[in-house]
Amino acid sequence: MMEKQIECVINGRTVSLVVETHWTLSFMIREKLGLTGTKEACGEGECGSCTVLVDGDAFNSCLYLAADADGKTITTIEGLADGDKLHPLQQAFVDRGAIQCGFCTPGMVLTAKAMLDKSPDLSAEAVRYHMAGNLCRCTGYDKIFEAITEARDQMKKGDQTTC
Ligand code: FES
Ligand code: FES
Repeated sequence: MMEKQIECVINGRTVSLVVETHWTLSFMIREKLGLTGTKEACGEGECGSCTVLVDGDAFNSCLYLAADADGKTITTIEGLADGDKLHPLQQAFVDRGAIQCGFCTPGMVLTAKAMLDKSPDLSAEAVRYHMAGNLCRCTGYDKIFEAITEARDQMKKGDQTTC
C-alpha cells in the first residue's frame, strides 16, 4: 500500500492529509472529510453525479485520484453558498423545482457553475450540449435546463450590478 502526503484547499480551507494512492477524490471527500454533498452513483465516469471543481474546472471525482489533488483548489457543493445565501444556481434549482431525489443535483450545479464562469453568454442550446455528461434519473431535464438558464441571467445581472 502506497501513501502520499497531500495539501489542498477545499471550500476555502487548507487541508493536509495522508492519502492512499488508489483512493479516488470522491472517496477522500466523502469518507475522509465528511463532505457527503458530493454524490457517487456510477463510480465509473458515466453520470456526473460526483462532479467537483478542481481549480475551477469540473471533474468526475470518482475518476480523479486523491493523490493528484495535491496543491489544487477544490470546490464541492458545500462550498457554493455564501453563508445562508444560496448561489444563484442553487436558488434557481429550488425555484424551478429542478430537484426531485436530488442525487444528481450537486454535480449538475457544479458542472453548470464551471460552464457559466467560463462562458456566461451560452445559449440555451449550448447549455444542453455542455450538460450532456450529467445524467438525471428523475426530472426529465427541462426544469434543470430552465434553472440553469435562469441562473445564467441572474449571474449576468449580478455582474452588471457590481461593475
Ligand atoms: S459517480 Fe462519478 S461519473 Fe458517475
Ligand atoms: S433529481 Fe433524481 S437523479 Fe436527478
